[in-house]
Amino acid sequence: MPKPKKLFIETLGCAMNVRDSEHMIAELNRKESYALTEDLSQADLILINTCSVREKPVAKLFSEIGVFNKKKKPTAKIGVCGCTASHLGKEIIKRAPSVDFVLGARNVSKIAEIVHIKHAVEVDTDYDESSYAFGVYRSNPFKAMVNISIGCDKGCTFCIVPATRGEEISIPSDLIVQEITKAVATGAKEVMLLGQNVNNYGRRFGTHEEQIDFTGLLQKVSKIEGLARIRFTSPHPLHMDDAFLEEFASNPKICKQIHVPLQSGSTKLLKAMKRGYTKENFLNRCAKIRALCPEATISTDIIVGFPGESDADFEETMEVLEQVRFDQLFSFKYSPRPMTEAALYETQVDAEIASVRLSCLQTRHTEILDEIMGGQLDKVHEVYFDELKPYGKIAGRSDDGKLVFVDGSEELLGKIVPVRVVKTSRGALDGTLI
Ligand code: SAH
Ligand code: F3S
Repeated sequence: MPKPKKLFIETLGCAMNVRDSEHMIAELNRKESYALTEDLSQADLILINTCSVREKPVAKLFSEIGVFNKKKKPTAKIGVCGCTASHLGKEIIKRAPSVDFVLGARNVSKIAEIVHIKHAVEVDTDYDESSYAFGVYRSNPFKAMVNISIGCDKGCTFCIVPATRGEEISIPSDLIVQEITKAVATGAKEVMLLGQNVNNYGRRFGTHEEQIDFTGLLQKVSKIEGLARIRFTSPHPLHMDDAFLEEFASNPKICKQIHVPLQSGSTKLLKAMKRGYTKENFLNRCAKIRALCPEATISTDIIVGFPGESDADFEETMEVLEQVRFDQLFSFKYSPRPMTEAALYETQVDAEIASVRLSCLQTRHTEILDEIMGGQLDKVHEVYFDELKPYGKIAGRSDDGKLVFVDGSEELLGKIVPVRVVKTSRGALDGTLI
């Protein structure tokens, strides 16, 4: 057997990109043998799986290609993949001829086909790979990420994703079940269902028709024997109907952790963002979650400095933060993106004002988080251990998504065990087995 080639892969951005990278590794290995390396200078193939949601990583890409090109073996190939590949296409090769091929976020299944074609560009955002059965590769055998849809139809005015990942298509439910069943057979007790808008599942299929929505999918997936935990990201507040929230609260396999991306607390801005809900709708959905499932943790995404955001609009965002007291906050300064409506709005907010607002938001969230995590002392969580850590530690997640460390070794991997919290910090809990 020939020696495996060495593959260096850098993954930026969201969980979908992480999964796309796993798919690329699996597809490459169907034709040739590749072993992963973290040493760029040893690599025969270098993949950069890019993100274009904000401007910064895009700007970094070209300087990174320059650095990689200097460090790599002369024969090594460079492939630019992911959302920036979809967005810039052949311009990437024009600006950086050392790049060997460009593969869009919607064309992942074609990697083995184009890897040896000099200056190939595959970035068709209409390409439908929703029914494609990818090869199997998972970076952690105890965790499974499984796509349930590709693309996004929402067209939020700040977001480049619909332009890079194309229109939304649901993956056949039998294929999803098949993938999860395989993962369970090789050690995973937990699955993370992935999509840009998971609770819109079932609105459109590619090659066949099916009568199923996200609630139905959750019910179907929870029947998989040996699967103990189901997580999903990201749902959209607009599609959080009562049936879905009731399923979330009552299904014991669904982890009690939910992402409810707010973006802004101002109804005026939500309208300009085309999010489809008001501040009141949002608060109502969070109140419903709390009422049905008081133990659930709620995380969110917030953008500050969206065009037209006044001090009063920002105050409304702060008000939602106070009311909901999110367990996790991903907050961003608005970044104008090409191919989006909001980039053309004339009311762009001064960068310094946006920075002040971001730090105000983050400071208050940190205080709230310290109170929430401080209250965890002595609590008992069922922890699914899935990662060995240095210094004799092992890490896992509580049902509600908190990172928990205990002293322990590989025999805990893949097990769900009760843990008492003995020490708390902002980002994680330390515990002992009971
Ligand atoms: N479908 C996902 C969103 C993917 S983008 C969801 O609904 O959660 C992830 C997050 O990046 C968004 O929720 C938003 O908060 C942020 N984001 C997207 N476009 C942005 C932009 N132009 N500037 C700043 N943040 C942005
Ligand atoms: Fe982007 Fe809105 Fe879809 S944030 S990914 S257009 S739900």
